[in-house]
Amino acid sequence: MPEGIFVSDYAKHVASELKLPKNVRIFDTTLRDGEQTPGVSFTPDQKMLIARQLDKLGVDTIEAGTPVSSEGERKAVTAIAQAGLSAEICALARPVKEDVDAALDSGVDCVHIFISTSDLHLKHMLKMTREQVLRRAMKYVEYAKDHGVTVEFSAMDATRTDLEFLKKIYRAVVEAGADRINVPDTVGVITPRGMYYLISELKQVVKVPISVHCHDDFGMATSNSLAAVEAGAEQVQVAVNGLGERAGNASLEEVVMGLRALYGIKTNVRTELLVETSELVERLTGITVPPNKAIVGDNAFAHVSGIHAHGVLEFPGTYEPISPELVGHRRRIELGKLTGRHSVEKQLRDLGVRVTKKQLAEITKRVKDLGDKGKVITDLDLRAIAESVLGTLPPEEKVVELKEATVLTGSTVTPTASVRVLVRGQERMGSATGVGPVDAAINAIRNVMQEISKLRLKEYHLDAITGGSDALAEVTVKLEDEEGNLYIAKGVREDVVIASVEAMINGINRYFAGRK
Ligand code: KIV
Ligand code: ZN
Repeated sequence: MPEGIFVSDYAKHVASELKLPKNVRIFDTTLRDGEQTPGVSFTPDQKMLIARQLDKLGVDTIEAGTPVSSEGERKAVTAIAQAGLSAEICALARPVKEDVDAALDSGVDCVHIFISTSDLHLKHMLKMTREQVLRRAMKYVEYAKDHGVTVEFSAMDATRTDLEFLKKIYRAVVEAGADRINVPDTVGVITPRGMYYLISELKQVVKVPISVHCHDDFGMATSNSLAAVEAGAEQVQVAVNGLGERAGNASLEEVVMGLRALYGIKTNVRTELLVETSELVERLTGITVPPNKAIVGDNAFAHVSGIHAHGVLEFPGTYEPISPELVGHRRRIELGKLTGRHSVEKQLRDLGVRVTKKQLAEITKRVKDLGDKGKVITDLDLRAIAESVLGTLPPEEKVVELKEATVLTGSTVTPTASVRVLVRGQERMGSATGVGPVDAAINAIRNVMQEISKLRLKEYHLDAITGGSDALAEVTVKLEDEEGNLYIAKGVREDVVIASVEAMINGINRYFAGRK
């Protein structure tokens, strides 16, 4: 198994019975079909930024746009064609003189000519006969070829086209000079087996490289693209983040990693740049990548369950089919109610925090308690919890222990707090009012502990660890005794009042420990 890849032998077993290509060309259509994503419209500068990134990524073809569609589009495609990129630059055109001329004038290396071939499209959209479609396709493939460019031909809605007609038109355009033929599943209605059958049939009559272009209407675009490769397709049309018309195109990152990890098929893509590319496209389109998106989603290498996290920490292949580094991602262990001690310990170690077994158990308990309340614990939260636990004296050295604290507050009542504490094992209860709930809670502690009457609260500091209304509150108090000695202590809780009470109690315990 290649390094960083832990996939199923069954897939390999089946693949060994196929005549798989060694390499597959990646034809990227982010700037063309991707721009047909509802709500997406690139400026020429944005197109150039993405084209440069795609070139760095190593795609073989960049479909830069449809030059006939607007002046801005013509300029953007021309600029990309002149940018000296290594990738082949392609423009889309209908088999219409104006379209093909606009593509040729933009100076691209390749013209992608398409026309619908299904009877459904012919009858309801083109109002043309099959014969007319065939003649038009041949005419403009020949015309473009005569101008010295590479020509790729697409039979739009191929997967709903009569097979005999499909074979006939592909054969005809190849005779007219097409260098590659593309098989679009325009409305995403084929299945992997259907695609395998179709490509196998076309392989028998077409002797130029075959490409596929799959849409994701049924969530099958990646599977269908890979099935086409199983049947011998040599090129796949894809878009970054699966952008494209309606539910989008096959996603570049899924297809490329599927080919590499599941089939051992090479592409020219530098896979370690996949996440960086996805993030750039996400930023420029404003189309957010779902966190659970394969390969590039935020959660693609995140582990939550204690069992999974433990496994991954022991050996990443247990719960990661590929190493995150292969695609430029990072592993994340998320802490919450399902977290185990191993994950907490590892996170703490990564943060440079060493803890005893008892402290680890207490920190894990607090993480789980917070998780039960629906909170996800970040690194910052964990550090604060750890600091608070590390700053707490061991139980045997504690004089005061908080058992309960309740506060009554609101715009029409005087804030009132009650506390129940154990002082050297003896229960004490008391209450107090204050200017606010925190003040009331601190006064209540003072009321039940006359022995700290000389202990002054010199400083009180409150921090929210992370943004959001569910952020953990970190309270730091500085207490001063009658001799000027200072006792600094922290409390970290999701509730500001409880964090304040905890900080006070921790400080009082430090005071007593210092007087022994
Ligand atoms: O989906 C489709 O059929 C297309 C063609 C232009 C290839 O995007
Ligand atoms: Zn499409």
